[in-house]
Amino acid sequence: MKQRILQYVRLMPSLEQALASAHDVTLLPGQPDPQAYLAAHGHEFVGLVTSAKFGAPVSLLEQLPALRVISSLGVGYDGFDLADARARGLQIGYTPEVLNECVADTAFGLLIDVARQFSAADRFVRAGRWAREAYPLTAKVSRKRLGIVGLGRIGRVIARRASGFDMEIRYHNRRAVADVPYAYEARLTDLARWCDFLVVISAGGPESRHLISAEVLQALGPEGFLVNVSRGTVVDEAALVAALQQGTIAGAGLDVYAQEPGVPPALMALDNVVLLPHVASATRETREAMASCVLANLDGFFKTGQVPVAVPL
Ligand code: 8YV
Repeated sequence: MKQRILQYVRLMPSLEQALASAHDVTLLPGQPDPQAYLAAHGHEFVGLVTSAKFGAPVSLLEQLPALRVISSLGVGYDGFDLADARARGLQIGYTPEVLNECVADTAFGLLIDVARQFSAADRFVRAGRWAREAYPLTAKVSRKRLGIVGLGRIGRVIARRASGFDMEIRYHNRRAVADVPYAYEARLTDLARWCDFLVVISAGGPESRHLISAEVLQALGPEGFLVNVSRGTVVDEAALVAALQQGTIAGAGLDVYAQEPGVPPALMALDNVVLLPHVASATRETREAMASCVLANLDGFFKTGQVPVAVPL
């Protein structure tokens, strides 16, 4: 018998099709009145499919009393209230590892772009300015100092990418990591002061909120660059805008923002920032691997009672 699954957000068409052929799926955004639908049918669902970007608010879970499992597309789980999920006896599947390479690639793409100003130089060429003036000199990447904030699965891949650019690497984490050759900086401001590029890949959520503060940006300094591929909440966005406007730091490469899809108009007005629309994992190959994981987590749960790749609760 097919299981009743609620799909909370739109997903890639191939994943929606695979979900619909394996389960009895209802698409919540497809309902004319989602609230009325939940009130009438919420009790039917045993599974919920969502993405890391959207998570699942407690107000939704309250309307799904029979829910046993959530399968989420993505590695971040800051969109879930873990204590609440534990209290409800839920398991949450997620998709770590398979996106490490693409997120690391994106961090490096942003890093090189903001330092060498490729996007800005592209705008310069398209505006027809090349015939009249030379593009200004930019900052070198190779052999520079890279500070990684959050040396987890993806942070380690970013470090490997950096070794190909002969960069010196240090990192900041809640605690030092045992099996890496990189120096640990216990204080984030010390790491920021030391490095040329500060790359943020720590988990989101209340613990890391505004970790990148005005003080950290001040320490990074007028020749330092910030790259954020974790969550917008990790950076004090107002402080970042001010730091970019005032030249407190040299530039920033951002894939994530405090209130997506909103990007502060002040950032759009600046040339020393590269803005991506939260696409770090968004390649066909990686999204297919993530989708397989979403399906396998649901199937595994319904076959064994255990989600194979579960958020630690
Ligand atoms: C996903 C993400 O893009 O994995 C994460 O935590 O933020 C992204 O990889 C997103 O959940 C897919 O919509």
